[in-house]
Amino acid sequence: MGSTQQTHQAPTTAELQTLWALLGDLGRAATHWRFEVAPNPCVGAAVVSRGQEVARGFHQRWGGPHAEAAALAAAAESAVPAEHWDTMVVTLEPCSSRGKTPPCVEAIRSTGIKRLVVGAVDPDVRHRGAGLKKLEEAGVEVIVLEGAAPLEDVCPHFLAWSGPDRLRRPHPWTIAKWAQTRSGHLMPPANSDNNRWISCGASRDEVLELRGGVDAVVTGVGTVLMDDPRFTVRPPGDTEMRPLRVVLDSYLRTPPEYALLRQTPGPGVGPVHILCQGGADVGRWRALEDAGAVVTGLPAGETDHVSLLDAQAWLWEQGARRVLLEAGPTLLSRYLDRDLVDQVRVYTGSAIGGEGVTMAAWMASANFAQRLDRECGADSVLEAFSG
Ligand SMILES: NC(=O)c1ccc[n+]([C@@H]2O[C@H](COP(=O)([O-])OP(=O)(O)OC[C@H]3O[C@@H](n4cnc5c(N)ncnc54)[C@H](OP(=O)(O)O)[C@@H]3O)[C@@H](O)[C@H]2O)c1
Repeated sequence: MGSTQQTHQAPTTAELQTLWALLGDLGRAATHWRFEVAPNPCVGAAVVSRGQEVARGFHQRWGGPHAEAAALAAAAESAVPAEHWDTMVVTLEPCSSRGKTPPCVEAIRSTGIKRLVVGAVDPDVRHRGAGLKKLEEAGVEVIVLEGAAPLEDVCPHFLAWSGPDRLRRPHPWTIAKWAQTRSGHLMPPANSDNNRWISCGASRDEVLELRGGVDAVVTGVGTVLMDDPRFTVRPPGDTEMRPLRVVLDSYLRTPPEYALLRQTPGPGVGPVHILCQGGADVGRWRALEDAGAVVTGLPAGETDHVSLLDAQAWLWEQGARRVLLEAGPTLLSRYLDRDLVDQVRVYTGSAIGGEGVTMAAWMASANFAQRLDRECGADSVLEAFSG
């Protein structure tokens, strides 16, 4: 067990055991939302009154309310009045700086809760202990029960994300999503009845939701040329979100009249960025900019294509932290080969066979972590972190 700073009556051993068990339970439950919140940590919190849990809450969506705020909101709905709340239990140190949501230490302090019990200190060197210090300074008793909800179990992805390697070379958390036939092809058989779609309508709705939870959608020019996609967020996705629509297009082959550039900016319609190699054709460059795209030339990579490392660095500079890769087999394979994918979501439809290369060999040898297999309509879905 970790440090205990006592400014109020110290908890008894039995109380500590109960709190320890509660933290473990919250940590296990929080992992349910691991794929929705990554790269953020999975966090669970509970409001306690006189040893009894009043309400609990979880961080359930990237950019959404933190667990502490969710638990406080749920407690406010309970029959127990706020003046009886004495303890907040949370699996990870509350944040002290404003991110996409207000700092949780302020929310906790404003309730008058007297004791905070945490399962782990924030591993990010930029924040470590800062939230606990602020609460202690405000007169809140802080108890760290290290080991009750270990980050290695609850959110190992967050340890990697906040580790020194990642901080030294910042690049966005990249989710690769694709739909494949049962043989692992991303392009359906030419003779299939419904030649355009591999996945069912329910899966495509899920993808719209996923798009509404990222800062950028990245694709290759091959997909643009073949499918003429929009890559917008449409219901049931959150149309308040306008992720950047980014095309890796080394030689500016994107036709300016295609659907990407025909969308009027507005809800769910993010700006179009085309990343090409420096020195690409000036006439095409101008035509794409006239059509509304922002064209950026990146240095030539070690291949004939746009350098993926430079594209990742560029995305980070734009403020993109969580990125969705929706590309065809060429760009997808390149991302996977370079270990640039952090998380996958793979929809497998009922068709067999298809055109082009198959992902079957990659899928068979991939090293997945925290894998989840589930169903969506008629499709099977695999979600996992890169191992
Ligand atoms: N089932 C699915 O989930 C899914 C998703 C998307 C697409 N698709 C299908 O995939 C097909 C298109 O396949 P595709 O492989 O041609 O599309 P793609 O992977 O989206 O695009 C490939 C192109 O990206 C460009 N690129 C830029 N930088 C690159 C880099 N560093 N490495 C590799 N490529 C880079 C290359 O063209 P330049 O050299 O000219 O830049 C390359 O030809 C379509 O039929 C589409 O329907 C399926």
